[in-house]
Amino acid sequence: MTNSQERAGARLGVELRNLTKRYRDADRELTVISGLTFSFPERGTVAIIGRSGIGKSTLMHLIGALDTPSEGSVLFGGRDVSVMGSDERAEFRARNVGFIFQFHHLLPEFSAEENVALPLIMSNMNEGKARAEAAALLGRMGLSERADHLPSQLSGGEQQRVAIARALITKPRVVLADEPTGNLDVRTATEVQRLLLEMNRELDNTLIVVTHNEELAQSMDMVVEMTPGGALVEHRKARRVPEE
Ligand SMILES: Nc1ncnc2c1ncn2[C@@H]1O[C@H](COP(=O)(O)OP(=O)(O)OP(=O)(O)O)[C@@H](O)[C@H]1O
Ligand SMILES: [Mg+2]
Repeated sequence: MTNSQERAGARLGVELRNLTKRYRDADRELTVISGLTFSFPERGTVAIIGRSGIGKSTLMHLIGALDTPSEGSVLFGGRDVSVMGSDERAEFRARNVGFIFQFHHLLPEFSAEENVALPLIMSNMNEGKARAEAAALLGRMGLSERADHLPSQLSGGEQQRVAIARALITKPRVVLADEPTGNLDVRTATEVQRLLLEMNRELDNTLIVVTHNEELAQSMDMVVEMTPGGALVEHRKARRVPEE
């Protein structure tokens, strides 16, 4: 599949095939995920729940090609990300995947607007256009007045909304959010939840959220629980009938 086909909206469902992840150090080996096979829907929202330390973040890193599996593969729309070279993988990731982390990882020396514009500038959009798009999306997030603030001049909830804007600005096919409401108060968490769902519908993409927040999990179309060995057990199937 060519990049232009991807751009033209060819669906990019995520498929895990016999995925295994081991961590090794000098004298120990820990198998976190063992032979996991799972298909995520091509659009809509999925919550991954499960106890602390079970391997949820590990799985997100594998899905997003930030880390490589010990065995098995991750496929996006049939393309095996695990066999790509590091440059190809980075480009694929920049084009197709948006990450939202618990601790947002905004660049401290750049303003909110610059943080959001950066992924577009990195993909060769001219700076003026990138900044205009970033400003518009920050407006959607209710942050017009904060566009020129540095991360240190933003509240936790504001920083998280900037991080969401940064993850969505490239209109990725798959958005991976690892505990996006983990350090927010209830009201801000609800606002972040609303924004994630609204943007998922608008971009018509797949949102995969790891969360300990019951309300956020229940607002997703599908809930899967990670169990020991990294198996994913479906609690609830898609509520929303996927549109063609
Ligand atoms: N780089 C690493 N080297 C060795 N072990 C690791 C490494 N990263 C994670 N682990 C171990 O792998 C297991 C899974 O970690 P992971 O971060 O995926 O858990 P999690 O489900 O996201 O937990 P939480 O809900 O607390 O975020 C843990 O036991 C952790 O200690
Ligand atoms: Mg985690």
